[in-house]
Amino acid sequence: MRITILGRGTVGGGLAALWTAAGHTVTVLGRDGGDATGADVLVVAVPGDRVAEALSRVTGIAGTPAVDATNVYGPRDPGHESNAHLVRSVTGGPVAKSFSANFASEYPRLADQATPPGNLVAAEPEIRELVDRLNRDAGFAPVHVGGLEAARAIEDAGPLLIAIARNGTGPFFYRVSPTGR
Ligand SMILES: NC(=O)c1ccc[n+]([C@@H]2O[C@H](COP(=O)([O-])OP(=O)(O)OC[C@H]3O[C@@H](n4cnc5c(N)ncnc54)[C@H](OP(=O)(O)O)[C@@H]3O)[C@@H](O)[C@H]2O)c1
Repeated sequence: MRITILGRGTVGGGLAALWTAAGHTVTVLGRDGGDATGADVLVVAVPGDRVAEALSRVTGIAGTPAVDATNVYGPRDPGHESNAHLVRSVTGGPVAKSFSANFASEYPRLADQATPPGNLVAAEPEIRELVDRLNRDAGFAPVHVGGLEAARAIEDAGPLLIAIARNGTGPFFYRVSPTGR
């Protein structure tokens, strides 16, 4: 796949390394933006309050499937239910929320896991297969929460994950285990 990532930080740079190792062609754009024409998917990995500004500097994204990996810790844009909705309002293509509910510092340990850790996904149907592949190729098992309407619930899970980490575990992976019922 041709993957364009917006954001070169812990998430953007980390995912770029994982997907490059999996054989994808990855382009990473920084705060100066750039052209994403021809990308099969755009992954947004900038600070949660900088999404609109960052996207405004990227051309060639109309209709491009997009994955929003951001978290929102400060004030949120009142015009959008979630940052995934904000991304959709700009790109106009199918959107998924994923890679926001994990600790990017731990990406290098993904390859050591006997069973792929879980990663929450809220995806519109048209992008579900694509975001599942991105998850598997990074070393995660996608855990589906629903469609775009579930993106806000994933964003709101950020403080909970951080609270778990701060109260004993440190950065962690998680897995969802069906009971077999
Ligand atoms: N760290 C995690 O464990 C984690 C996990 C899941 C989700 N997230 C979320 O993922 C997003 C990125 O987090 P991160 O940890 O990768 O942050 P980070 O390491 O601070 O990197 C942020 C990146 O965004 C770029 N950036 C900042 N303002 C920008 C703008 N206006 N336009 C374009 N690019 C801009 C920065 O550019 P410069 O390099 O030029 O400063 C940097 O490359 C955030 O929304 C965060 O909440 C983080």
